[in-house]
Amino acid sequence: MDNASNRPLKGALIGYGFIQSKGHVPAYLQRKDVEIVAVADLCEARRGAAQEMLPEARVYTDHEILFEQEEGLDFVDIATPPSVHADIAMAALGRGLHVLCEKPLTTEPEDALALLKAAKSHKRVLFPCHNYKHAPVVKAIRQVIESGKIGKVRSVTLNTFRNTHAKGVPEWKTHWRREHRHSGGGIAMDHGSHTFYLTFDWLKSYPTRVTAKMTNLEPEKYDTEDNFSAVLTFPTGMAHVHLTWTAGVRKVIYTIQGERGAITVDDDEIQVARMRSTEGPDVAQGAIAWDVEKSSISSDWMDASHVQWFSSLFDQFRDAIHREDFVGREAREAYLCVQLIAHAYRSAQEGCRELTLPGEIPGI
Ligand SMILES: NC(=O)c1ccc[n+]([C@@H]2O[C@H](COP(=O)([O-])OP(=O)(O)OC[C@H]3O[C@@H](n4cnc5c(N)ncnc54)[C@H](O)[C@@H]3O)[C@@H](O)[C@H]2O)c1
Repeated sequence: MDNASNRPLKGALIGYGFIQSKGHVPAYLQRKDVEIVAVADLCEARRGAAQEMLPEARVYTDHEILFEQEEGLDFVDIATPPSVHADIAMAALGRGLHVLCEKPLTTEPEDALALLKAAKSHKRVLFPCHNYKHAPVVKAIRQVIESGKIGKVRSVTLNTFRNTHAKGVPEWKTHWRREHRHSGGGIAMDHGSHTFYLTFDWLKSYPTRVTAKMTNLEPEKYDTEDNFSAVLTFPTGMAHVHLTWTAGVRKVIYTIQGERGAITVDDDEIQVARMRSTEGPDVAQGAIAWDVEKSSISSDWMDASHVQWFSSLFDQFRDAIHREDFVGREAREAYLCVQLIAHAYRSAQEGCRELTLPGEIPGI
């Protein structure tokens, strides 16, 4: 391949559904450093939608035909349902392409590991779409933690409330997230990666143990879970996570508890509380012990397509290509997320038994 830093990257899209058409492509069209030259989707109506949005692109029924026909590609962007991520990503790496892949990277840890190994041996970047890290309010959380204002983080809670499962485009299988054969699982498979990579970032370590519980309130209709709770133990603290598709509201509520203060996030609202002194009388004795700063950081939580978050993420993918960082932190964390989801499912199936997480990534 020629020096990719001096010209726009040439990309192909595999799967042209909701996130690709509403999130990724609008971001690509705003950029000068990327050109989308081809699209594959197995659904005719979605191929039509792709052709309308990207009139210059060549459109295919299948990723294999696209790989055979297209020359000079730099990367693929995979946004199909998760059950086929592994096969498509492996085929792309085998063709010498960099891979940007929606979360979860795969539905099985063994497949994620095989991808990490293939990226390393083919010297191609494997990069997951861990886009919640790019939400403005989440970037603000990181800045507060990095500033040392609240001290070392010792525990976190992450609540994600949704009033329904996310739907795919109506032209294909709009409820695929509730069908195990397409999704590999319910809300933990769908949203668990976002939650887990944020815990890694905030607690600055990787979990060693997990216990989990889940329910499916509509077993007669669907075979994936709609509610999921887990407790993770880290060398540095603990995380409680709760994900639901049966809430009365759509929002995230995160809390981050440090040695000297705490951060509370309710969608765009962020509150940073700092202990005025870690010694002396406590609140029970009438002392006002915290300084509290409140602000609002517009983060577009209600817009599930997250266009701005994607552009910030794409900057990192492009930089990883230029730095030849083939299996970087994001790819490793994608593997750890899939490993964690698999263990959480096993824990829930075994009556919330606490399981040890292997943690290490063999051979990488
Ligand atoms: N990071 C985020 O914030 C975010 C948000 C939404 C979706 N996603 C992820 O994006 C992916 C797609 O989700 P979506 O909501 O866009 O789904 P969707 O159903 O809207 O789109 C999926 C598309 O893939 C096509 N497709 C299915 N199987 C295919 C195959 N084998 N080859 C080619 N095309 C195929 C379908 O025809 C459809 O057009 C999932 O992995 C999901 O988890 C991520």
